[in-house]
Amino acid sequence: MSGLCWLILLFLAESSSSAKIIGGSAVGGSHYMMIRNVVEELARRGHEVTLVISSAQKVKPSEKFAHKIFQVPFKEGTILETFAKEMIENGSLSWDTFKSLSEIDRMSCECLLNDTEFVNSLKGFDLLIYDNIANCYVLLAEYLGLKRVEIAALSPNGPPLAKHLVPMPVSYIPIPFPGEPCTDEMTFTQRVLNLIMYVLGQFMMSLLVYSNMDSTKMKYNITPGKSFLEAAGEAELLLMTSDFALEYPQPLLPGNIMVGQLNVKNPRPLSPELEEFVNKSIHGFIAVSFGTNVAFLSKKKVDLLAAAFGKLQQNVVWKLKGYIPSSLSPNIRALEWLPQNDLLGHKNIKAFVSHVGHNSLYESAYHGVPVVAFPLFADQFFNAKKVEHFGLGVSVNHNNFEVENLVREIKHVISEPRFKTEATRISRLLKDRPRTPLETAGDWIEYVIRHGGATHLRAQVFNIPWYQYYLLDVIAFLVAIVTLVVYVVCMACRFLCRLCCQKRDSKSKVE
Ligand SMILES: *[C@@H]1O[C@H](CO)[C@@H](O)[C@H](O)[C@H]1NC(C)=O
Ligand SMILES: *[C@@H]1O[C@H](CO)[C@@H](O)[C@H](O)[C@H]1NC(C)=O
Ligand SMILES: *[C@@H]1O[C@H](CO)[C@@H](O)[C@H](O)[C@H]1NC(C)=O
Repeated sequence: MSGLCWLILLFLAESSSSAKIIGGSAVGGSHYMMIRNVVEELARRGHEVTLVISSAQKVKPSEKFAHKIFQVPFKEGTILETFAKEMIENGSLSWDTFKSLSEIDRMSCECLLNDTEFVNSLKGFDLLIYDNIANCYVLLAEYLGLKRVEIAALSPNGPPLAKHLVPMPVSYIPIPFPGEPCTDEMTFTQRVLNLIMYVLGQFMMSLLVYSNMDSTKMKYNITPGKSFLEAAGEAELLLMTSDFALEYPQPLLPGNIMVGQLNVKNPRPLSPELEEFVNKSIHGFIAVSFGTNVAFLSKKKVDLLAAAFGKLQQNVVWKLKGYIPSSLSPNIRALEWLPQNDLLGHKNIKAFVSHVGHNSLYESAYHGVPVVAFPLFADQFFNAKKVEHFGLGVSVNHNNFEVENLVREIKHVISEPRFKTEATRISRLLKDRPRTPLETAGDWIEYVIRHGGATHLRAQVFNIPWYQYYLLDVIAFLVAIVTLVVYVVCMACRFLCRLCCQKRDSKSKVE
């Protein structure tokens, strides 16, 4: 009998700690996987979770949790295509593309908010976990009155984190911007550029992203008393998928938690066919991936890459979609999809040729693989600079590389032992955590659930105006005081001097 009581009590204890959680995912393979992994971890811990995602994303069904899909009139491909093609070919986006991307963002947010039946079915949940780039979930949470935790696949100096007021000392922390990025050792000119880029970046973001969200927020009359940025800053926690093993050391607020890369895991065995291919060469093999945007490299560049890879002793496993050269050298295997984590964790891998997106950089570092960075756009140039700074490998410019110099760089990375040594050192640092990144993220989310929020971690910085933050009022006050004192002292001196002179004059007159 008492055993049964215990069982019932245990069951009650279990069910009372189980929460109802919504996962809000952005469109894009790695973004979807990130939120999916967290949601799965929470489901494993006994929480009831639902993953919300737009119909533009191809989803992988799960037995552990439900997907809830809202309809949008476009596909993932359209978004990526406009963006990636132009970024790679022209190095930047035209104003029109910027506007149309921001229009897509606004439209998919409206599609979600317009579907009242869908939105109302999300009532009665306890917490929302959402991706940093999916700003619409801030509006959804405000509408539903939900507490939330934001997850960002970013470094702590990522410009989109400014909405959480992550401290950003531009004097020694470089801002990721395309062109010629800096490290944390900056010259005077670089610091000038760093400040300008920071201000410009924030300005662009408020023009193209935040103003959109503000007008949508007004249109649907969601908590009209606060701006989008104020609402976004009210997240209980900001979890970042990064680690100081691979970041420039910088300050954080108490609610800014770096949990590490969520998508990494221990490698599983490769398919027998692929295993045979990577096992065949006594010189090992190289993995090549330019991320989701592989299909947008020009034919000329793909041909140059194929010629370079054909000259290597190693076998090459290459993620290649779209144009595939008609004759590939026998040491190359081109595949539409790579089991990237399993390849990077394979004992025969010698190097990773990569576009160095945030996730790929962390994945290769986690497995201790030297990198040949081949950045294409956005923060990838900044990450390529990090590859060099942290001694993980070298960087190659995709606009003017030649077959010979690419071959030389790859051979250099493979033959020079210091790259492997550094990669192994960083890998050890990344793995030296008492809990895995996914467990750490789960622990913090449960912390928020147990305590009904994390407002005690919230610094006063959210409540003071910007001139107080930069102490402009205090500086102005002190400058005024010093000026006043100097002025008074000067006047007194002048007065005394005049007095002395007068006395001397009158004395000499008397004499
Ligand atoms: C690159 O820029 C040119 C001129 O500004 C434009 O005509 C072209 O469409 C752009 N390329 C892509 C892929 O959008
Ligand atoms: C949302 O609904 C409003 C009003 O019914 C409509 O004007 C607007 O076009 C809808 N938005 C989308 C993206 O369907
Ligand atoms: C790969 O190499 C290992 C030894 O290094 C061997 O045990 C294994 O059978 C090989 N696999 C294949 C598919 O050849």
